[in-house]
Amino acid sequence: MKKGFFITLEGPDGSGKTTQAKRLGAYLEKIGLEVVLTREPGGTDLAETLRSLALSPEITMSKRVESLLHVAARADHVDKVIRPSLKAGKVVICDRFSDSTLVYQGLLGGMDLDELERLSLFGSAGLMPDVTFLIDGDPRILLTRRQARGVTDKFEAQGLSFQETIRQGYLSLSARYPERILLIDGEGDPDSITRTLIKKVEKFL
Ligand code: TYD
Repeated sequence: MKKGFFITLEGPDGSGKTTQAKRLGAYLEKIGLEVVLTREPGGTDLAETLRSLALSPEITMSKRVESLLHVAARADHVDKVIRPSLKAGKVVICDRFSDSTLVYQGLLGGMDLDELERLSLFGSAGLMPDVTFLIDGDPRILLTRRQARGVTDKFEAQGLSFQETIRQGYLSLSARYPERILLIDGEGDPDSITRTLIKKVEKFL
């Protein structure tokens, strides 16, 4: 394995990626790797502050400003947490990264994708994930699964057509970066999704 390994998880809200990131991290630690589990927007004090601004329902802002807040949060996170951890040879698992900006502010928000990509690369100082797992599934099925667990949240509140738009956005990104973005079937049970993730990560290590 080269110095450090950078894994990101992407997918619509409620796709289960946070749970899967934790499970994958726990497994990699069990086999003796040093793991840093983190998330975006966030991961540092400054980035968490920017997160609360970017996601605040009370503050209105243009998509341009929203993009800059997410990218600024990423810059701080990369500088203070991600890059130093990779340099130290650790595995970094990040719940969302630059693909979220491309989907939410770009494909959904209408910001120009090429411009946003350049901005995002400026924010990460050129850092990109070694691999990105896209947890994909039919929003109707994901919703039914969540309802069965008694989870009623943002996913439901945003509505199925919004979730479908996010899904299509991610699928088009995965077609743009087929080598880096690997599709994971998110419709199965959580245990089998974890097994699939582990199998795929083991190939890189
Ligand atoms: P969060 O509650 O962490 O959602 P989830 O559990 O689904 O990850 O909120 C993160 C939100 O921020 C999510 O709706 C996507 C959005 N986001 C962006 O719009 N742009 C970005 O660059 C990032 C990283 C996240």
